[in-house]
Amino acid sequence: MSPLVRLAVVVVLGLGGPLAVQAAEPLAATGVIHGDQDGGTISRHLYGHFAEHLGRCIYDGLWVGEESLIPNTKGVRTDVIDALKKLKIPNLRWPGGCFADDYHWRDGIGPLDQRPQTINIHWGQVVETNAFGTHEFLELCELLDAEPYLAGNVGSGSPEEMRDWIEYLTFDGDSELANLRRKNGREQPWRIEYFGVGNENWGCGGAMRPEYYADLYRRYAEYCRDLSGNRLTRVACGPSGNDGNWTRTVMERVGGRMQALSLHQYTLAAPWHEKRPATGFDDAAWFAIVREALTMEKTLDDTEAIMDKTDPDKRIGLFVDEWGTWYANEPGTPGYALYQQNTLRDAMVAGVTLHIFHDHCERVRMANIAQIVNVLQAMILTEGEKMVLTPTYHVFEMYKVHQDATRLPLELKSPEYKHGKDAIPAVSASASRDKAGKVHVSLVNVHPTDAVTVTCELASVAATKATGRVLTGDKLDAHNTFDDLDAVTPKAFDGATLADGKLTVELPARSVVVLELAE
Ligand code: AHR
Repeated sequence: MSPLVRLAVVVVLGLGGPLAVQAAEPLAATGVIHGDQDGGTISRHLYGHFAEHLGRCIYDGLWVGEESLIPNTKGVRTDVIDALKKLKIPNLRWPGGCFADDYHWRDGIGPLDQRPQTINIHWGQVVETNAFGTHEFLELCELLDAEPYLAGNVGSGSPEEMRDWIEYLTFDGDSELANLRRKNGREQPWRIEYFGVGNENWGCGGAMRPEYYADLYRRYAEYCRDLSGNRLTRVACGPSGNDGNWTRTVMERVGGRMQALSLHQYTLAAPWHEKRPATGFDDAAWFAIVREALTMEKTLDDTEAIMDKTDPDKRIGLFVDEWGTWYANEPGTPGYALYQQNTLRDAMVAGVTLHIFHDHCERVRMANIAQIVNVLQAMILTEGEKMVLTPTYHVFEMYKVHQDATRLPLELKSPEYKHGKDAIPAVSASASRDKAGKVHVSLVNVHPTDAVTVTCELASVAATKATGRVLTGDKLDAHNTFDDLDAVTPKAFDGATLADGKLTVELPARSVVVLELAE
């Protein structure tokens, strides 16, 4: 029976298994990969991460302290470091988040037993021991071989406090603060490129109007100096999602005094106070979350159009330094800890969102998924000495081949994934050529039940062989647990063939595939 005339009988998957049976035409997508065009560099910083003093991200997830029975390296869990190193993490943002605008860096330096106990006003009013501070964070970055991205305190701090932190971190001369750093164990200054001047100053960072923030930014940034050859990329607080008024005001009033503008956009598909469960959802919730993730495209289009007006040469980068899914907290865990499971649906969100960032790489030069361990759309979940890698972790691991590669424009005509009266494209794809000349193609099929045959013409891509891996699961909320670590894990993929200058991929339903094309 020809695949074109065959009617496939498919099973609509739900949480507990088959929900209904429907007939469907086999789906097909077509595309062209332009191997002779330079679609920009996919900055490795699009694969950045974020760690906040929130719930069990820092304490438990990363930091257990040198005295812990859990194996650790300088106080950081060794299992977590080893797993994260496989992702080639380019940068790590810290200490928040909302926490940043109530953080006073002096609380987190010096002998441990002399650090003050403070309270985390944003996240459960838990007592913060300050055991993990500036030195511990920067040592973690060194262990991960990741660049640090610090968020300074505008909301409740002063320009003096921010200025002093930068001197403490980066000055190599004989000043009181540089000598204090030496006394605390660090002789050489650190190199800090990325520095956020506040976080969400429209909300938890001070509830400011954009005009007021823009003025404050100018004042604070004036004291964020490049010391001892260090060069800062100063990041201004940008909009919450698609807020053109905030973007316009800050762009017009701050302009070239910033090197980057941040943007935060989470995927909830629900009002803030009615968040959806992370597992145990139906196909309507699958569709709603994926569809909302795709709105990142319009947010970026609209934000870039505003930025282009005052910065047509694209000197200012757009950093999506918080993104990801946000669900109801797991039953039995405190709401403020933002601990959620992570399923195959999150892998879809990660895959399609990273493709959107690739397509906007001219302006979008950093992105940080929230957050790295135990919070929101995490890479890793921990429980005592146990650790589990999430489906999102696997997408980041599979996609790392795109880091710093040249984007190859990929034109794609996707079939629709219909749900009721609504529809979104079933397939999303991206291609790149790395520095060694290898071409990689990543593809996501968000259709929950139907495979898609993708046929791509290869223009100026010399290849005879396609190998790769696939990530999928047996149900919509397939996920890994501490008792079943590998329910959703990448497997070898044999569904790609090359013939007559064409790549054909039999893309399974609800899957992420990454291929390497070789001559
Ligand atoms: O990532 C959790 C919180 O989300 C951050 O603290 C804040 O910046 C955002 O609202």
